[in-house]
Amino acid sequence: MSRLITITSGKGGVGKTTTSINLATALNSFGKDVIVVDANLTTPNIGLHLGAPIVPISLNHILLGKAKVAEAIYEHESGTKVIPSSLSINELRRINHKKLKDVGKKLRRMADITIYDSAAGLGEEAIAAMESADELIIVTNPEIPAVTDALKTSKLIEQLGKSVKGVIVTRVKKNSKTQMPISNIAEMLELPILGVIPEDERIQQSLVMKDALVHTHPKSKPALAYKKIAAKLVNMEFNEKPSFFDKLFGRY
Ligand SMILES: Nc1ncnc2c1ncn2[C@@H]1O[C@H](COP(=O)(O)OP(=O)(O)O)[C@@H](O)[C@H]1O
Ligand SMILES: [Mg+2]
Repeated sequence: MSRLITITSGKGGVGKTTTSINLATALNSFGKDVIVVDANLTTPNIGLHLGAPIVPISLNHILLGKAKVAEAIYEHESGTKVIPSSLSINELRRINHKKLKDVGKKLRRMADITIYDSAAGLGEEAIAAMESADELIIVTNPEIPAVTDALKTSKLIEQLGKSVKGVIVTRVKKNSKTQMPISNIAEMLELPILGVIPEDERIQQSLVMKDALVHTHPKSKPALAYKKIAAKLVNMEFNEKPSFFDKLFGRY
Protein backbone atom coordinates (compact mmCIF):
# COMPACT_ATOMS: atom_id res chain seq x y z
CA MET A 1 0.00 0.00 0.00
CA SER A 2 1.29 3.44 -0.89
CA ARG A 3 2.22 5.71 2.04
CA LEU A 4 3.06 9.33 2.63
CA ILE A 5 5.51 9.94 5.47
CA THR A 6 6.14 13.47 6.75
CA ILE A 7 9.42 14.24 8.48
CA THR A 8 8.94 17.05 10.97
CA SER A 9 10.66 18.51 14.03
CA GLY A 10 9.55 21.86 15.37
CA LYS A 11 13.09 23.17 15.74
CA GLY A 12 15.04 24.01 12.60
CA GLY A 13 18.45 22.66 11.64
CA VAL A 14 18.07 19.37 13.49
CA GLY A 15 18.56 17.10 10.46
CA LYS A 16 15.16 16.74 8.77
CA THR A 17 16.40 17.15 5.22
CA THR A 18 19.39 14.87 5.84
CA THR A 19 17.01 12.28 7.29
CA SER A 20 14.48 12.62 4.45
CA ILE A 21 17.00 12.10 1.68
CA ASN A 22 18.85 9.29 3.45
CA LEU A 23 15.66 7.40 4.29
CA ALA A 24 14.46 7.91 0.72
CA THR A 25 17.75 6.67 -0.74
CA ALA A 26 17.84 3.70 1.66
CA LEU A 27 14.25 2.73 0.78
CA ASN A 28 15.12 3.10 -2.89
CA SER A 29 18.11 0.78 -2.42
CA PHE A 30 15.64 -1.78 -0.99
CA GLY A 31 13.76 -1.68 -4.28
CA LYS A 32 10.98 0.70 -3.22
CA ASP A 33 9.76 3.42 -5.52
CA VAL A 34 10.26 6.57 -3.45
CA ILE A 35 9.68 10.27 -4.08
CA VAL A 36 11.06 12.82 -1.65
CA VAL A 37 9.31 16.17 -1.75
CA ASP A 38 10.67 19.48 -0.52
CA ALA A 39 7.56 20.51 1.41
CA ASN A 40 9.67 23.26 2.97
CA LEU A 41 8.61 25.98 0.55
CA THR A 42 9.85 29.00 2.51
CA THR A 43 13.41 27.77 2.92
CA PRO A 44 13.75 24.85 0.52
CA ASN A 45 16.93 22.82 0.53
CA ILE A 46 16.36 19.34 -0.87
CA GLY A 47 17.65 20.71 -4.17
CA LEU A 48 20.81 21.96 -2.47
CA HIS A 49 21.33 18.60 -0.77
CA LEU A 50 20.85 16.65 -3.98
CA GLY A 51 22.40 18.98 -6.53
CA ALA A 52 19.32 20.41 -8.21
CA PRO A 53 19.13 23.98 -6.84
CA ILE A 54 17.37 25.47 -9.83
CA VAL A 55 14.98 23.37 -11.84
CA PRO A 56 12.60 24.52 -14.57
CA ILE A 57 9.50 23.05 -12.87
CA SER A 58 9.21 22.71 -9.10
CA LEU A 59 6.63 22.06 -6.39
CA ASN A 60 5.80 25.77 -6.52
CA HIS A 61 4.57 25.36 -10.11
CA ILE A 62 2.40 22.41 -9.07
CA LEU A 63 0.87 24.32 -6.15
CA LEU A 64 0.20 27.32 -8.37
CA GLY A 65 -1.55 25.05 -10.86
CA LYS A 66 1.04 25.78 -13.53
CA ALA A 67 2.34 22.23 -13.94
CA LYS A 68 1.42 18.61 -13.41
CA VAL A 69 2.96 16.63 -10.55
CA ALA A 70 4.83 14.29 -12.92
CA GLU A 71 6.56 17.26 -14.59
CA ALA A 72 8.33 18.24 -11.35
CA ILE A 73 9.82 14.82 -10.55
CA TYR A 74 13.58 14.61 -11.06
CA GLU A 75 15.75 11.54 -10.65
CA HIS A 76 19.01 11.79 -8.74
CA GLU A 77 21.87 9.56 -9.93
CA SER A 78 21.33 7.42 -6.81
CA GLY A 79 17.89 6.57 -8.19
CA THR A 80 16.07 8.68 -5.60
CA LYS A 81 13.24 10.70 -7.10
CA VAL A 82 12.88 14.28 -5.95
CA ILE A 83 10.39 17.12 -6.22
CA PRO A 84 12.35 20.29 -5.37
CA SER A 85 10.84 23.63 -4.36
CA SER A 86 11.82 26.91 -5.89
CA LEU A 87 14.24 29.22 -4.14
CA SER A 88 12.42 32.23 -5.56
CA ILE A 89 10.80 34.38 -2.87
CA ASN A 90 8.48 36.17 -5.29
CA GLU A 91 5.94 33.35 -5.52
CA LEU A 92 5.76 32.56 -1.82
CA ARG A 93 2.83 34.72 -0.89
CA ARG A 94 0.67 33.31 -3.66
CA ILE A 95 1.12 29.70 -2.59
CA ASN A 96 -1.67 27.82 -0.90
CA HIS A 97 0.02 25.26 1.32
CA LYS A 98 -3.21 23.36 1.82
CA LYS A 99 -2.79 22.03 -1.71
CA LEU A 100 0.07 19.88 -0.43
CA LYS A 101 -2.60 17.40 0.60
CA ASP A 102 -3.97 17.11 -2.97
CA VAL A 103 -0.45 16.76 -4.32
CA GLY A 104 0.05 13.96 -1.78
CA LYS A 105 -3.01 12.15 -3.09
CA LYS A 106 -1.57 12.19 -6.60
CA LEU A 107 1.87 11.12 -5.39
CA ARG A 108 0.44 8.11 -3.58
CA ARG A 109 -0.59 6.80 -7.00
CA MET A 110 2.92 7.38 -8.40
CA ALA A 111 5.20 5.83 -5.77
CA ASP A 112 5.30 3.21 -3.03
CA ILE A 113 6.47 5.77 -0.51
CA THR A 114 6.34 9.57 -0.62
CA ILE A 115 8.42 11.49 1.91
CA TYR A 116 7.55 15.10 2.76
CA ASP A 117 10.53 17.01 4.14
CA SER A 118 8.74 19.60 6.24
CA ALA A 119 9.56 23.19 7.13
CA ALA A 120 10.68 24.03 10.66
CA GLY A 121 8.29 25.62 13.12
CA LEU A 122 4.62 24.94 13.58
CA GLY A 123 3.24 27.40 11.06
CA GLU A 124 0.73 26.90 8.27
CA GLU A 125 3.33 25.35 5.98
CA ALA A 126 4.53 22.76 8.50
CA ILE A 127 0.94 21.93 9.49
CA ALA A 128 -0.05 21.39 5.84
CA ALA A 129 2.75 18.81 5.52
CA MET A 130 1.58 17.13 8.74
CA GLU A 131 -2.04 17.05 7.58
CA SER A 132 -1.03 15.42 4.31
CA ALA A 133 0.66 12.48 6.04
CA ASP A 134 -0.32 8.89 6.68
CA GLU A 135 2.63 8.60 9.04
CA LEU A 136 4.69 11.18 10.90
CA ILE A 137 8.26 10.96 12.09
CA ILE A 138 9.80 13.54 14.41
CA VAL A 139 13.51 14.30 14.10
CA THR A 140 15.31 15.75 17.10
CA ASN A 141 18.76 16.26 18.61
CA PRO A 142 19.77 15.22 22.12
CA GLU A 143 19.37 18.74 23.50
CA ILE A 144 16.65 20.33 25.62
CA PRO A 145 15.55 23.02 23.09
CA ALA A 146 15.17 20.49 20.26
CA VAL A 147 13.35 17.94 22.44
CA THR A 148 11.06 20.63 23.87
CA ASP A 149 10.07 21.64 20.34
CA ALA A 150 9.66 17.96 19.43
CA LEU A 151 7.23 17.60 22.33
CA LYS A 152 5.24 20.63 21.18
CA THR A 153 5.17 19.15 17.66
CA SER A 154 3.95 15.81 18.93
CA LYS A 155 1.14 17.51 20.90
CA LEU A 156 0.10 19.48 17.83
CA ILE A 157 0.06 16.27 15.75
CA GLU A 158 -2.25 14.72 18.35
CA GLN A 159 -4.52 17.76 18.12
CA LEU A 160 -4.66 17.24 14.37
CA GLY A 161 -6.03 13.77 15.09
CA LYS A 162 -2.89 12.01 13.86
CA SER A 163 -0.26 9.97 15.61
CA VAL A 164 3.52 10.00 15.56
CA LYS A 165 5.15 6.79 14.37
CA GLY A 166 8.32 7.55 16.27
CA VAL A 167 11.36 9.70 16.77
CA ILE A 168 14.77 9.74 15.14
CA VAL A 169 17.46 11.23 17.36
CA THR A 170 20.31 12.50 15.25
CA ARG A 171 23.68 14.24 15.71
CA VAL A 172 24.33 12.07 18.75
CA LYS A 173 27.90 12.48 19.94
CA LYS A 174 29.96 9.61 21.24
CA ASN A 175 31.46 11.07 24.38
CA SER A 176 29.34 14.01 25.39
CA LYS A 177 28.52 14.65 29.01
CA THR A 178 26.10 17.43 28.16
CA GLN A 179 23.74 15.78 25.70
CA MET A 180 20.46 14.21 26.85
CA PRO A 181 20.45 10.42 27.20
CA ILE A 182 18.23 8.70 24.62
CA SER A 183 16.17 7.08 27.39
CA ASN A 184 15.30 10.54 28.78
CA ILE A 185 14.22 11.71 25.34
CA ALA A 186 11.94 8.69 24.91
CA GLU A 187 10.49 9.27 28.37
CA MET A 188 9.91 12.97 27.84
CA LEU A 189 8.28 12.50 24.43
CA GLU A 190 6.44 9.28 25.33
CA LEU A 191 7.16 8.03 21.84
CA PRO A 192 9.12 5.10 20.41
CA ILE A 193 12.67 5.83 19.23
CA LEU A 194 12.93 4.58 15.65
CA GLY A 195 16.69 5.01 15.54
CA VAL A 196 19.73 6.96 16.62
CA ILE A 197 22.07 8.62 14.11
CA PRO A 198 25.57 9.51 15.27
CA GLU A 199 27.22 12.86 14.67
CA ASP A 200 29.53 12.22 11.73
CA GLU A 201 31.34 14.69 9.52
CA ARG A 202 30.83 12.42 6.51
CA ILE A 203 27.22 13.70 6.55
CA GLN A 204 28.58 17.14 5.74
CA GLN A 205 30.92 15.61 3.14
CA SER A 206 27.91 14.03 1.45
CA LEU A 207 26.23 17.43 1.46
CA VAL A 208 29.23 18.90 -0.38
CA MET A 209 29.02 15.95 -2.78
CA LYS A 210 25.29 16.74 -3.25
CA ASP A 211 24.30 13.21 -2.47
CA ALA A 212 22.86 11.12 0.35
CA LEU A 213 25.35 9.55 2.77
CA VAL A 214 23.58 6.22 2.28
CA HIS A 215 24.80 6.45 -1.33
CA THR A 216 28.26 8.06 -0.83
CA HIS A 217 29.31 6.09 2.27
CA PRO A 218 26.92 3.11 2.36
CA LYS A 219 28.83 1.23 5.04
CA SER A 220 29.41 4.16 7.40
CA LYS A 221 27.75 4.00 10.79
CA PRO A 222 25.16 6.74 10.15
CA ALA A 223 24.29 5.22 6.74
CA LEU A 224 23.74 1.83 8.37
CA ALA A 225 21.63 3.49 11.05
CA TYR A 226 19.46 5.14 8.39
CA LYS A 227 19.16 1.85 6.49
CA LYS A 228 18.11 0.10 9.68
CA ILE A 229 15.32 2.62 10.23
CA ALA A 230 14.26 2.38 6.57
CA ALA A 231 14.12 -1.43 6.85
CA LYS A 232 11.98 -1.09 9.97
CA LEU A 233 9.58 1.19 8.08
CA VAL A 234 8.95 -1.48 5.46
CA ASN A 235 9.22 -4.50 7.79
CA MET A 236 12.36 -5.81 6.16
CA GLU A 237 15.29 -7.71 7.64
CA PHE A 238 18.51 -5.72 7.69
CA ASN A 239 21.87 -6.93 8.89
CA GLU A 240 24.56 -5.31 6.78
CA LYS A 241 28.02 -5.13 8.36
CA PRO A 242 29.92 -1.88 9.03
CA SER A 243 32.97 -1.10 6.92
CA PHE A 244 36.47 -2.25 7.86
CA PHE A 245 37.48 1.38 8.55
CA ASP A 246 34.50 2.08 10.77
CA LYS A 247 35.43 -0.98 12.80
CA LEU A 248 39.14 -0.13 12.80
CA PHE A 249 38.59 3.41 14.06
CA GLY A 250 36.02 2.36 16.65
CA ARG A 251 33.24 4.10 14.79
CA TYR A 252 31.05 1.12 15.26
N1 LIG B 1 24.40 13.09 11.90
C1 LIG B 1 24.94 14.25 11.54
N2 LIG B 1 26.26 14.50 11.74
C2 LIG B 1 26.81 15.67 11.37
N3 LIG B 1 26.13 16.66 10.76
C3 LIG B 1 24.82 16.49 10.52
C4 LIG B 1 24.15 15.29 10.89
N4 LIG B 1 22.84 15.39 10.52
C5 LIG B 1 22.70 16.62 9.95
N5 LIG B 1 23.88 17.27 9.96
C6 LIG B 1 24.14 18.62 9.45
O1 LIG B 1 23.32 19.53 10.16
C7 LIG B 1 22.90 20.59 9.31
C8 LIG B 1 21.38 20.71 9.35
O2 LIG B 1 20.83 19.54 8.79
P1 LIG B 1 19.51 19.56 7.90
O3 LIG B 1 19.23 18.16 7.50
O4 LIG B 1 19.62 20.57 6.81
O5 LIG B 1 18.46 20.06 9.00
P2 LIG B 1 16.96 20.60 8.83
O6 LIG B 1 16.43 20.08 7.54
O7 LIG B 1 16.23 20.06 10.02
O8 LIG B 1 17.05 22.09 8.85
C9 LIG B 1 23.46 20.28 7.92
O9 LIG B 1 24.63 21.02 7.72
C10 LIG B 1 23.76 18.79 7.99
O10 LIG B 1 24.82 18.42 7.15
MG1 LIG C 1 15.62 21.18 5.93
